[in-house]
Amino acid sequence: MKRSQINSYIKKAKARFEEFNITLPWFAYLKPEDWNNVKEDVSAIKDSMLGWDVTDFCSGDFHTTGAVLFTVRNGDNNDKTMKRPYCEKYIVLDECGQDIPLHYHLDKTEDIINRAGGVLIIELYHRTADDKLDMEKPVTVFMDGVYKTFKPGEQIEVMPGNSITLEPYVYHRFIAKKGAGMLIVGEVSKVNDDNNDNVFYNPLGRFSEIEEDEKPIHLLVNEYNF
Ligand SMILES: [Fe+2]
Repeated sequence: MKRSQINSYIKKAKARFEEFNITLPWFAYLKPEDWNNVKEDVSAIKDSMLGWDVTDFCSGDFHTTGAVLFTVRNGDNNDKTMKRPYCEKYIVLDECGQDIPLHYHLDKTEDIINRAGGVLIIELYHRTADDKLDMEKPVTVFMDGVYKTFKPGEQIEVMPGNSITLEPYVYHRFIAKKGAGMLIVGEVSKVNDDNNDNVFYNPLGRFSEIEEDEKPIHLLVNEYNF
């Protein structure tokens, strides 16, 4: 991805947050050079990978597969005291039908919430013993206090304010419904560990290579160098 594209996607996400009166924590607004002037110890921000994350999952086509993510809070699986066993993030998906591709988690249970702006579509599948999609077995999930059962791959529409609870080993794909508006998704979960906990159906990269064609407006979570 080009840095100019990353900058522009972050700007669009920030504008969408403002539209819905969502204000991010202070470090969301730091310029790259500002990090050196912070007096407090910011190592937990780096270790827990809090902040901006813009990725096309190495698809080469951000508008089809990709997202702007912002991790608000997170624990650190390497911290044995585990003071924060939870994570919260925002995921902004473009209304052109942008998706986060099929994957499951080895450990993380996550609530995926339609916070505002559009309609969230989710597809679910159980996995077979050889890690493929089970096209037969229905998937039962907890959705805002009640259990619901869906066919494998059924397009489940989650409207603003509503959510779905995804347990480990259930394949899931998120899509922003076409033409329904730029979607702000929330995620509340166990600790997020993008380096060890994700299994993608089609193996993809999690962090994109960046072509530096202009200066970054914000550092991404995998770029902290303090
Ligand atoms: Fe997930």
